[in-house]
Amino acid sequence: MKRMYPYIRPWLWAMVAAILFKGAGAVTDLLIPYMMGILIDTGIATGEAHQIVVMCLAMLFLTLVTAGFNILANFISARATQKIGERIRNALYSHIQKLTIKDVDRVETPSLITRVTNDVEHVQRTLLMMTRFMVRAPIMAIGGVCLSLMLDPVLTLVIFVGMILLGVASMSVYKVTRPIYRRVQQAIDRLTTILREGLSGIRVIKSFNKSEYEINRFTSQSKKVKKHELKAGLFNAYMDPSIGLITNMTIAVVLFCSGFRVEAGALEIGKIFTIVNYINMILNAMTRIPRMFMMFSRANTSSARIAEILDIEESTEYGKADDRKCENTVLEFRDVSFAYPGSPANSLKHVSFKVKKGETLAVIGATGSGKTTLQNLILRLYEPSEGSIRFEGRDIREYSKRALNRMVTAAMQQYTIFGMTIRDNIILDQDFEEDRLERSARSAQIMDLIDELDDHFEYEIAQNGTNLSGGQKQRISVARTLYRQADLTILDDVSSALDYRTDLRLRSALRRNYTGKAVLLISQRISSVRGADQILVLEKGAAVGLGTHEELIRNCEAYRDICRTQAVEVPEGGECHA
Ligand SMILES: Nc1ncnc2c1ncn2[C@@H]1O[C@H](COP(=O)(O)OP(=O)(O)O)[C@@H](O)[C@H]1O
Ligand SMILES: [Mg+2]
Repeated sequence: MKRMYPYIRPWLWAMVAAILFKGAGAVTDLLIPYMMGILIDTGIATGEAHQIVVMCLAMLFLTLVTAGFNILANFISARATQKIGERIRNALYSHIQKLTIKDVDRVETPSLITRVTNDVEHVQRTLLMMTRFMVRAPIMAIGGVCLSLMLDPVLTLVIFVGMILLGVASMSVYKVTRPIYRRVQQAIDRLTTILREGLSGIRVIKSFNKSEYEINRFTSQSKKVKKHELKAGLFNAYMDPSIGLITNMTIAVVLFCSGFRVEAGALEIGKIFTIVNYINMILNAMTRIPRMFMMFSRANTSSARIAEILDIEESTEYGKADDRKCENTVLEFRDVSFAYPGSPANSLKHVSFKVKKGETLAVIGATGSGKTTLQNLILRLYEPSEGSIRFEGRDIREYSKRALNRMVTAAMQQYTIFGMTIRDNIILDQDFEEDRLERSARSAQIMDLIDELDDHFEYEIAQNGTNLSGGQKQRISVARTLYRQADLTILDDVSSALDYRTDLRLRSALRRNYTGKAVLLISQRISSVRGADQILVLEKGAAVGLGTHEELIRNCEAYRDICRTQAVEVPEGGECHA
């Protein structure tokens, strides 16, 4: 919990105030039975009406004060812990947003979700419990014992025995249930993971007839949760009656002993009444203590899980450069090699190329040949293991994050469409400009669809874009990329979801509407790449060809192979015709 201190600190005073009010409430709470005893012994026993009225009024006052303290304390602590929870949650989320893809991959999304929701919730609830009982429970237990001692030391001995019995009982229950609760938590975590996978992938699951398998996976985990919960519940089922038993036995023994004490003239009825009340208060307070331990240890685990994320540093370091040197070469790969973390093989091997202003470089290669990896490195989602990437005359690492965002933009293969209007999906963080929006939508070949819709650009896309087809979503993601008018636009395999004619239109619109901008066009289709200024042929991460379509047809066997599989005619040593 120590790691949560920075988030608690602004509310520390509120927490302390709540604890103090709660403590004051406990003190006044303890006084009420004490006054009741006096009332019985001096007022009722002697029958003095005046005394009874005064004592009753005093007790009423104390009751009101106690209620006041408790309400105030509960109000302050609820507010403070909610605020603390909010702070932790927000800090965690903004930190996650800044992590590199590599780290997000490592921790995995469902686990991140659990940390932002459940773990923060645990910490918050525990803080609330602590402010309410951390001081109140000891005051009730110790204060109760002290007051009982004042009233009758002999009977207090019996209370001591009761306390020891209860202490042993609740500590042993705590010891036994703690590992059980831990297993419950783990089982629930696992269940949540299965649930998230099963729900987010429901389309795939249905289409592959995997429903039966998923149902089995879920129900068997659900069974495990039930098993552990049941075990924990069973121990709790012992716990409450045992507390009641020990409390009532203590009261019975105290009453039995008090008979002798009254006979000996050492005790009055009112005091017995007070002591019985204290037994209830003391033993009740004692049962809180192991529960607090339990919650605390759980919150400790949660806060460690939160801290683990907060401690991951943003490992991509950005430079300060905000301007470009405005060289003619926009992008240059210099002998770049790269292996994904934990992967033994290089996904890119000594790749070099240059893209000039206004040029289109197409990248072609089979799946897994490293095309998307190329894009990931340019976007700095990963760092090259060897070689360097230069942008407008500088090493890419010298640029600030903002500058880089302005200069490069990518329509990714795995694009995301948000549950917002088409317009907002295209514009995102940019300023709105009507003609810029239209141009990007028109170039991305999505204008036909927008014109057909009643709301045009204001059409609300459902969450995850379920009310659009794959090709439509992809074109919106292309429009989003074009809207940014960056110096370099990367289009990763966008043609795969487009028919040949739309693909052709997209490419000519790009050339027409975005002259002067460089394009990196990733594709698997010869028809998409053949018009490009240069074509880079990738094979298992290595650049096996670089040149125009005609040049490659003549001298690149890998390229000729791709042409043949796509029924593009390859004349021996001559020109080629589609
Ligand atoms: N996140 C990743 N972690 C480890 N290996 C990866 C990761 N992404 C891709 N790879 C591997 O890198 C190689 C190139 O992948 P990729 O660039 O996505 O290919 P392409 O886009 O050409 O289909 C493949 O062998 C793939 O298995
Ligand atoms: Mg790819």
